Amino acid sequence: RRVVVLISGSGSNLQALIDAQHHGELGGDIVAVISNVANAHGLVRARDAGIDAVVLPHGEYDSRDAYDGALIKVIERHQPDLIVLAGFMRILTPRFVQRYLGRMLNVHPSLLPAYRGLNTHALALADGVTEHGCSVHFVTEELDGGPVIVQAAVAVTEGETEESLREKVHTREHLIYPIAVKWFLEGRLRFDGEGATLDGTPL
Ligand code: GRF
Repeated sequence: RRVVVLISGSGSNLQALIDAQHHGELGGDIVAVISNVANAHGLVRARDAGIDAVVLPHGEYDSRDAYDGALIKVIERHQPDLIVLAGFMRILTPRFVQRYLGRMLNVHPSLLPAYRGLNTHALALADGVTEHGCSVHFVTEELDGGPVIVQAAVAVTEGETEESLREKVHTREHLIYPIAVKWFLEGRLRFDGEGATLDGTPL
């Protein structure tokens, strides 16, 4: 089973997936990593792991549709079963999302449906919540709004800063993302048009 990972930055989630693959715990192979940012550190992680690393700079396209069209071309060369968004900081067009509907996952740093969009840690702190976390979900046209597959919660403790919270949440992302990918690649996790199911049971 073949996975293409899209990134824009550090790629620590990508690293967690690479590590899982190396331990035989991913259920498939990462066949390509694509970044819209040329100096994304995740590209180095990919190359170090011997994975095809492609830069597709969005600045070279004059519309979202043109960019996503180019992205589709690169992705299709690799014939993936699954697209994994791992810190890919671009909103995808409906055409792109529809094409990969039910075969594209994202990880988001909040306990969805709380805090969709950016700055989740700052917003959670400002609200004084006692619990925060991360979610893996299927990607649908609604931004950070697709069906949730798995979440991990962390306690917000005394003296917590945005940075400490981000770090805590990040470590949990690294735990849950490979699990969700494995479920999908093993055929256990499905998108049924509305929600997600695991072994046939709605999540
Ligand atoms: C993570 O916080 C993820 O939740 C968000 O983007 C960040 C990516 O981090 N979607 P990394 O590049 O995987 O380190």
